[in-house]
Amino acid sequence: MDFAELLKRRTIRFFRQEAVPEAELCKLIDAARVASCGANAQLLRYMVIRTPELAEKIFYNTAYAAKVQPRRNPVWGVTAPQTFIAVLAPEGKAEADAGAAVQSMEFAAYNSGLGSCWIGSFNRGAVQELLTPPAGLQVRYLLAVGYPAEAHPVQEDIGLDGDPAYYLDEQDRLHVPKYTVEALTSWR
Ligand SMILES: Cc1cc2nc3c(=O)[nH]c(=O)nc-3n(C[C@H](O)[C@H](O)[C@H](O)COP(=O)(O)O)c2cc1C
Repeated sequence: MDFAELLKRRTIRFFRQEAVPEAELCKLIDAARVASCGANAQLLRYMVIRTPELAEKIFYNTAYAAKVQPRRNPVWGVTAPQTFIAVLAPEGKAEADAGAAVQSMEFAAYNSGLGSCWIGSFNRGAVQELLTPPAGLQVRYLLAVGYPAEAHPVQEDIGLDGDPAYYLDEQDRLHVPKYTVEALTSWR
C-alpha cells in the first residue's frame, strides 16, 4: 500500500466476528515497537486480549463514537471487536510514545486489511483490574482490532468555518471532516 493510500485509514468501530490470526497481530506490535519514542527508552509494553471471556469483559468497559450515539455502538457477539491490544506505560510517562505506537498500529492494521479503533474512553480502574499488567505499568490506551464490518468512512475536507464533528448519513456510513492544510497552517 502506498503512503497516500495509507492516509485513507479511518477509525472502524463495527467488526466481523472473525478471529484475527496471531501473525497479523504480531505485525501490529512490530510496527509499534519501532515507532519514535523519547530517548529511545522503549518504556511501552503490549498485551493482546483475545480470549472471548476476557475480551467481552474489556468490551463492556469501553465507549465508542460519542458523537453518533447510539448508532455506532458495537454490540457484543454481533459487531463488537473480538481483539484488543492494550498499550501499557509507566505512570505519568511516555504519553507521546503511546500515541505514536497506537498510530503505527492503526496504519499497520489498515495495511493488512484490518480495521481499528483507538480507545481512550474506558473504565481505567476496571480494565487495570481485569488485565493486571506487570508492576508499575498502567493501561494507557486500548486498540480494538478486527476485520471491518462497516463501509469505509468518507473523509471530507473542511475549512475552519466547517464543523469537525463526524456524522452518519442515511446509509449509516460515517463521514469524518478534516480541516485542510490551508485552514490549519500559518507560515513565517
Ligand atoms: C487519544 C484518542 C482517543 C480516542 N478514544 C476513542 C474512544 O474511546 N472511542 C472511540 O470510539 N473512538 C476513539 N478515538 C477515535 C477518534 O474518535 C477518531 O480518531 C476521530 O473521530 C477521527 O477519526 P479517524 O481516526 O477516522 O481519522 C480516539 C482517538 C484518539 C486519538
